[in-house]
Amino acid sequence: MFKILDKRELCEKVHQFRIVAPRLVQKAKAGQFVILRKDEAGERVPMSIGGLDKKNGILTVVIQEVGKTSAAMNRMKAGDYFADVVGPLGLPSHIEKFGHCICIGGGVGIPPIYPIAQALKDAGNSVTTIIGARSTNLLTFDEELRSASDRLLISTDDGSYGTHGFVTTVLQKLITDGEKIDMVICVGPVPMMKAVVNTTREPKIKTFVSLNPVMVDGTGMCGACRVTVGGRTRFACVDGPDFDGHQVDFDEMTKRMKMYVRYEKIAYEGFLEDDCRLGKQVKAMNETSGSKK
Ligand code: NAD
Ligand code: FES
Repeated sequence: MFKILDKRELCEKVHQFRIVAPRLVQKAKAGQFVILRKDEAGERVPMSIGGLDKKNGILTVVIQEVGKTSAAMNRMKAGDYFADVVGPLGLPSHIEKFGHCICIGGGVGIPPIYPIAQALKDAGNSVTTIIGARSTNLLTFDEELRSASDRLLISTDDGSYGTHGFVTTVLQKLITDGEKIDMVICVGPVPMMKAVVNTTREPKIKTFVSLNPVMVDGTGMCGACRVTVGGRTRFACVDGPDFDGHQVDFDEMTKRMKMYVRYEKIAYEGFLEDDCRLGKQVKAMNETSGSKK
C-alpha cells in the first residue's frame, strides 16, 4: 500500500499526487514511469514520473482525468492509499553531456519533462525548456521548470501567455535564429511530438520522444504497447519510453491509440453517472439527518 502524502489541483481535471514510495524512488531515474492501481480490483494505469524526492522517498505523479480510472484516482485524497505503485519501469532517458539541450513539454506532458531537465542540467548541459498549453490556466510546473533550466520559454495556443502558438512555433524561431542546438527531448501529445520531429528533421537535430501508447502489463509480455521504430517492432514499456523521434511511425501509433477510445468513453460516462447519483444520495441523506436535528 502506498500512501498519498499530499494532493493539489494543478488545473481543471489535473491533479498532482505526492506518494510515499522510498524504495521505488531510490532506484528510479528521469524518463522512467510507474504503473498505479487504485485498489485490488483496479485497472493498471501507466504514469510518467513527474518528480523524485530522493531525500524523503517521495514520488510525484500528475494525473489527468480522461477516463473512468483516472477520474476515480483524482477523487482520492491525502492520507488515502494506492494498492500498488509498480516501478520504476522502462529505460531511463538518455542523459549525457550533449551541450545545449531543448526540453519540450506540452499540456499534461509538462510535468514529466521536469526530472529530465533536472538530470540534463546536473550532467552539465545548458538547458532551454519550452512548455506549451492551450491557455494560461492549463500551464503547470512553470516554477519548477524555471529553476531546473537556464531558460524557460512558454507558448499558449490562444496567445493568453507567452508566444502565441505551439511549442513548435518557439522551437522553429530558435532554429531560424541560428541557435546551436545539440539535442531535443519532448513529452506531450502525439501530434506535438510528430510536429517537433518534423521541425528538427531537416536541421538534423538529435530528437528523443517519450512515447505513451496503450499499456497493460508494462513488462514486455502483452504486446499492447507495440510501436514501429526504424521499421522494427519495439515495445515502449521495455525498449522505451524514449526513442529516436525521427525513426518513429507516428501514424501507426495514432491509429493504435484510437482503438479503445469508444470503450473508454462509455466506461467514463458510466462512472460520471454513478458519481452524480451517489452525490445526490449523499446530499439527500445529509438533508434528512439535518432536518431531524
Ligand atoms: P494539448 O492537446 O492541450 O497540447 C498541449 C500543447 O502541445 C499545445 O499547447 C501545443 O503547444 C502542443 N501541441 C499540440 N498539438 C500540436 C501540434 N499539432 N503541433 C505542434 N504542437 C502541438 O495536450 P493535452 O490535452 O494536455 O494532452 C497531453 C497529452 O500528453 C495526452 O495525450 C497524454 O497522453 C500525453 N502525455 C504523454 C506522456 C508521455 O510520456 N509521452 C506523459 C504525459 C502525458
Ligand atoms: Fe505489455 Fe508493453 S505494456 S508489452
